[in-house]
Amino acid sequence: MKTILVTGGSGFIGSHTCLALLDFGYNLVVLDSYINSSVIALKRVIGLSKTQKQSAQNTLHEVRGDIRDYKLLSKVFVEAIKNNAPIEAVIHFAGLKSVEESVREPLLYWNVNVEGSRNLFRVMDENNCRTIVFSSSATIYASSTDNLLTEASELKPCNPYGKTKLAVEELLRDLFENSENNWRIANLRYFNPVGAHSSGEIGESPLEKPNNLFPYICQVAIGSRKQLQIYGSDWPTPDGTGIRDYIHVMDLAEAHSAALEYLFSKQSKLLNLNIGTGKGTSVLELVKTFEKVNGCKVPYVFSARRLGDVSKTVANNQLSIRTLAWEPSRSLSDICRDGWRWQMLNPFGYSERTH
Ligand code: NAD
Ligand code: UFG
Repeated sequence: MKTILVTGGSGFIGSHTCLALLDFGYNLVVLDSYINSSVIALKRVIGLSKTQKQSAQNTLHEVRGDIRDYKLLSKVFVEAIKNNAPIEAVIHFAGLKSVEESVREPLLYWNVNVEGSRNLFRVMDENNCRTIVFSSSATIYASSTDNLLTEASELKPCNPYGKTKLAVEELLRDLFENSENNWRIANLRYFNPVGAHSSGEIGESPLEKPNNLFPYICQVAIGSRKQLQIYGSDWPTPDGTGIRDYIHVMDLAEAHSAALEYLFSKQSKLLNLNIGTGKGTSVLELVKTFEKVNGCKVPYVFSARRLGDVSKTVANNQLSIRTLAWEPSRSLSDICRDGWRWQMLNPFGYSERTH
């Protein structure tokens, strides 16, 4: 059984991916600072894992720490070697992800996302671990066009968050091209990950007011927020609202185990892959589907366009499908049903708050 280090593994995408990886049979070391997540998430992951509860506990080892901490990271690698379970690959989720905060705090974003990643790659290199799956983002592409985005589309992020993601991809390319050692790298460019595990036990738990559409819809539907503001009704789209490619978080999670398996089968590789469904959904379509599937109301008003938004971002996902032998299998209705189940069972996410 191979051991994988998962940075940021207690977060939204990380926790769902840990479940997929445990069920795939990997041994996990999860490193997280818990700056944007709860210790409860991984406890629930262990409870959900198909492996016997006891054995799942044995195969998921949690370490509280920061990816910028060189000594700690080195210790994690060295201890794994001592325990005869050397880390053979890293899935790197840890980082900050708010576009709006990145505009206010570019130094922080470059420090955590870029410096933190550089520190991680240095420790990996020193410990002969050169296989990595990196959480990149569709936000690195230039403004959308009418066409689906392919991996060869122009790269031109327009906010500091996106620039840090592109910088890490570029660093990984330099490592791949210039190192004498064989790196195996998959940059997964996520489109819009949403929904929750079908059990409703794990899901997205924003600590503050959500910035993103799907968690906002859930909070309006349950009554913790009065109404949704739809940012713009005059986009050049059929119903005037923005179009995105929403992918079920479990489909995204499974893309990570597929990417690992693919990398392990190669000597050396650099891959950039779009992880989306290839289907565009407008804000209004998502609201209507959510209401229909869950039999609830999502009151909304139209407001001005949000600064920095684009009309349409949809993936051409053919390269991922061909390369990874993976395909998203869950529908928009599944996304709405599973996301709502999580919201109903956990009205305050993982927190105990009762406001
Ligand atoms: P998340 O905030 O839920 O998870 C990130 C995790 O990293 C959290 O558990 C957080 O505590 C941890 N973390 C943050 N800084 C850390 C540090 N310095 N050291 C150790 N741990 C740290 O976010 P997510 O939605 O699960 O996103 C995971 C990754 O995917 C991020 O890199 C994000 O940029 C990327 N991504 C997310 C989306 C999205 O819409 N959710 C889209 C594209 C890319
Ligand atoms: N929207 C609203 N009201 C809201 C929130 C969003 O109308 O309250 C609209 C937006 O204008 C957009 C759509 O819903 O048309 C989706 O917005 P999100 O904020 O959910 O997602 P974005 O596509 O703007 O961005 C997300 C992540 C980025 C990531 C990107 C990848 O926030 O970090 O997807 O495509 F890079």
